[in-house]
Amino acid sequence: PAKPIQIKVVLLGEAAVGKSSLVLRFVNDEFQENKEPTIGAAFLTQKVRLDDSVLKLDIWDTAGQERFHSLAPMYYRNAQAAVVVYDITRASSLDRAKSWIKELQRQANPNIVIALVGNKLDLAGDADGASATKATTADDAEASDADADEQADTEGRSRQVATATARAYAEETGLLFLEASAKTGEGVVETFTEIAKKLDLN
Ligand code: GTP
Ligand code: MG
Repeated sequence: PAKPIQIKVVLLGEAAVGKSSLVLRFVNDEFQENKEPTIGAAFLTQKVRLDDSVLKLDIWDTAGQERFHSLAPMYYRNAQAAVVVYDITRASSLDRAKSWIKELQRQANPNIVIALVGNKLDLAGDADGASATKATTADDAEASDADADEQADTEGRSRQVATATARAYAEETGLLFLEASAKTGEGVVETFTEIAKKLDLN
């Protein structure tokens, strides 16, 4: 078979939403309960096999802390795909994801494939996200900003972003949309496979 096609993928999203955890699950099939924040960015690679091709993903896992925001363009420039992650238990993280998506649409490769991923699905505490519609109001987003310094603490958290809310936004914006859990592995391989499939068509 021919040399695998190389694809540059960047992960973006608010601090502590689980970007590094998703990559660690995808690349090593591992999970760490207390993963340390990323400094700058991390680089990992993994292959994705489709029916009749292999794509080698060069994955740039960026740091979500605001002090690293100015570095992001270095990582999304020339990227063919972006995984923009939010935490389904934190409404403010979807707002941050939306602002990353706007930045990508303004500044990244115009053909970039973007996947919006709602992580920490294991904390949902419901079957389909339907019960959480109420929680995505501006008030709740502000309330969760206020406890931003407790972001790594997932103890007792439950869903704040309904599946339907995020999916509707993704559909109207032309993004892939998945919910996932780096902890259980649900939706993780699917995220990268969906991206590969969409790229393969181009
Ligand atoms: P930065 O590097 O600071 O931008 O954070 P990040 O987005 O890379 O988050 P990271 O992967 O470091 O995860 C933050 C915390 O959330 C860690 O304590 C993880 O163990 C936890 N975490 C990540 N993914 C999941 C998940 O799917 N479920 C649960 N319950 N916890 C998760
Ligand atoms: Mg990280």
